[in-house]
Amino acid sequence: MLKKTFFLFSFVFLTACSQTGVEVTQTQQQAVAMPDTFSADAAYAVLEDGGNAVDAAITAQFVLAVTLPEAGNVGGGGFMTIAFEGITDFLDYREMAPSDAHRDMYLDDEGDVKPYESLFGAKAAGIPGTVAGMWAAHQKYGSLPWSRLVAPAVELAENGFLVPEKLASNITRYLARTREQGLNSNFASYFEQAKANTIFKQPELATTLKAIQQHGQDGFYQGEVAEKIVSFMQENGGLINHTDLAAYKAVWRKPLELNWQGFTLVTAPPPSSGGVAVAQWIGMLESYGSNHTLPDHNSAEYLHVMSEIGKRVFADRAEYLGDPDFVEVPVAKLVAPDYIKARAALIQPNSISDTPSVKPGLKESEDTTHFSIMDKWGNAIANTTTINLTFGSGVVVTGAGFLLNDEMDDFSAKPGVPNFFGAVGGEANAISPYKRMLSSMTPTLVTQGGDVVLATGSPGGTTIISSVAQSLLNALLFDFDAKKSANAPRFHHQLLPKDTIRVHPGFDESTLAELTDMGYTIDARRFGDVHLIKRTSQGVEAASEASGRGKSIVSAR
Ligand code: DON
Repeated sequence: MLKKTFFLFSFVFLTACSQTGVEVTQTQQQAVAMPDTFSADAAYAVLEDGGNAVDAAITAQFVLAVTLPEAGNVGGGGFMTIAFEGITDFLDYREMAPSDAHRDMYLDDEGDVKPYESLFGAKAAGIPGTVAGMWAAHQKYGSLPWSRLVAPAVELAENGFLVPEKLASNITRYLARTREQGLNSNFASYFEQAKANTIFKQPELATTLKAIQQHGQDGFYQGEVAEKIVSFMQENGGLINHTDLAAYKAVWRKPLELNWQGFTLVTAPPPSSGGVAVAQWIGMLESYGSNHTLPDHNSAEYLHVMSEIGKRVFADRAEYLGDPDFVEVPVAKLVAPDYIKARAALIQPNSISDTPSVKPGLKESEDTTHFSIMDKWGNAIANTTTINLTFGSGVVVTGAGFLLNDEMDDFSAKPGVPNFFGAVGGEANAISPYKRMLSSMTPTLVTQGGDVVLATGSPGGTTIISSVAQSLLNALLFDFDAKKSANAPRFHHQLLPKDTIRVHPGFDESTLAELTDMGYTIDARRFGDVHLIKRTSQGVEAASEASGRGKSIVSAR
């Protein structure tokens, strides 16, 4: 059994500037944990050039738009959690619904959700936020010239890159599947020629990136690129117009911060559901641990208790979480220690609670990508970015060469009807013009005494929350090194489907048999792609989950 003393669980809201004045120790070491080799090399080169963690993140974001088209993007959005010179910050560059969007836009005459409409094609796209996000990040924190930071992406798009096997096979699989489903788009004409171990050039994307390189965010939201986006929308039944592009704004928000076990967790606030969910998850585990012996890592009891918590987390998510600019999200109440304690109190070590009885508790009663960077001054970022599903909406803006997101599916198209990730929602996440759709992306930093000790995050839709919570617990509660924290088998439970635990390969058969005996259904499917940096008194470690095509680099001490 784990012999870890539990500290009193306490959540506090700290202001964004609360850590000003903390002496930032120069770590000397710098590290990147990236979803592919191109972004790793380009981001590390920025650090070597004297750039800071935010500079390196901007480069990585644009490189991924070229080399990881499944998820890297200029046509999507994301979140960046930042710790910079002792100050914490959060950049929301999530997509927004176009002005012509309305709550029933994906329903047919009978009021049923039309299959694929929020997932495939131009109408599935929200207004992209990535370029505005990177521009805002550069304005506030950038130190190297913008043009230098965008250059590696331009180079890779113009002169091409050697296609990794995993990208080629993802393209082949995607084409086969969409053809089988009768979904047609211009995807094949852009990506079919990207064969494994051949050079793949993207001239149209290079032109778009050059416009961004020269004109900053105006090179995307105005001028020729904007023209191409709007024409494409008009010709393909999409909704985004010039006013929408001009209206898009990235937003600086206060990160959700809370104290846990002597650390400060710095994570994603709404419109992500992830920070609240991770806070609830680790909080309820702590509360359970104060009444029971904490189960061993990845034992049947650990999976069961974490699944019980997941039920409660996802019941709250469906009811309360949405865009805070549109709905009041009761964040403080959802992470309040007494509430967390009360929610955890009914969890039994040996029996599964009845799914329909797990209600939201406050009543007055596959593609995204993540990267983590730490510079030699100890500044760090955790950035998760997405076009939603693998290759987004499957359509490329003609002439501009980039894939559009299908983020509109993250809204609740109809109350109670699950979206692609099986998440249900209601009023709080209904579609409305210029509203941001609820997300699970949870780029997370953990600080101790003002120093960043962990940066983590993952793709995976709703499973992101499990990946982040478990990688964090692995690194800080179970004290695993970075490699083991990123690679230990993970599991996920989200209320629905009923009593189903999704598990990575690698669990003991006996553990799974114990869970089946308890009444769980085991769904053996890998999820997520964690890229994590951990800093201890021994130095900095970085790890990219081995099942992906990621790469981590750490400088020598
Ligand atoms: O924002 C969200 O929660 C989703 N659009 C993320 C999608 C995702 O992670 C897909 N990855 N496998």
